[in-house]
Amino acid sequence: MRDSAPSPDWTIPQDWAHFTATDHRVWDHLFDRQTRLLPGRVAPEFLDGLKRLDLTRPGVPDFARLNDELMALTGWQVVAVPGLVPDAVFFDHLANRRFPAGNFIRRPDQLDYLQEPDVFHDVFGHVPLLAHPAFADYMQAYGRGGLRALEYGAIDRLSRLYWYTVEFGLIRSEQGLAIYGAGIVSSHGETLFALDSASPNRLGWTLERVLKTPYRIDDFQQNYFVIASFDQLLKVTLETDFGPFYQRLAGDRDIPIAAILADDVVFTRGDQSHVAGVRQPA
Ligand SMILES: [Fe+2]
Repeated sequence: MRDSAPSPDWTIPQDWAHFTATDHRVWDHLFDRQTRLLPGRVAPEFLDGLKRLDLTRPGVPDFARLNDELMALTGWQVVAVPGLVPDAVFFDHLANRRFPAGNFIRRPDQLDYLQEPDVFHDVFGHVPLLAHPAFADYMQAYGRGGLRALEYGAIDRLSRLYWYTVEFGLIRSEQGLAIYGAGIVSSHGETLFALDSASPNRLGWTLERVLKTPYRIDDFQQNYFVIASFDQLLKVTLETDFGPFYQRLAGDRDIPIAAILADDVVFTRGDQSHVAGVRQPA
């Protein structure tokens, strides 16, 4: 499936029947492992989404059934794609409330390793929050912003917003900090690391701060940014005029990846002990 020629929007039929018994077992294994770990760690809105979308049924979800529920809740739908899609195609899907999901699942010997996002990451990680109205609107706003960022040549900068929210975001909750980013909630190791490790910084989220902060794609994060609420994320994103914002930031240097600035709100000052090659004094 992954080698098939894409349609203009890169979508393909999910063809749910192509998933094998082994594929469904992999989903169930990952699902059980994460849902045991997540309560008390993940934003309650995520668990609420899992339940409301009936994602607790066994096996890889059938998108037709899932979309009935999701459309009724927030007007979003999940569409199958062979794998990663070009930026413009991805943004156009989000801008039209369609979330592209990889139409394959990792092998049983790859439970903790992924070269590109599979259906477990894309559906388990991303879709529950699409049932939440403010987050659903934020994802659409991001897609629209992405299409504009292409015109401004600002994709590298805007992608940091997606990375530090949609993929690796933390949120304040009644029990302290909670995870909500799909890259964390779909990863056993990072679900633990993001909240428990002494290594990363955990800092208050501002739009400008994240747009100026590089990120790692090869390891757990060195920084996590904490939002106050999904409403805050949506409001700031909708109210910012990104064109002048990009122009203003164009001359600024990036913030070194693990630096903490004087005006940061610091939840945790990380010791960065996880970072390869960095040895802490004995
Ligand atoms: Fe993702």
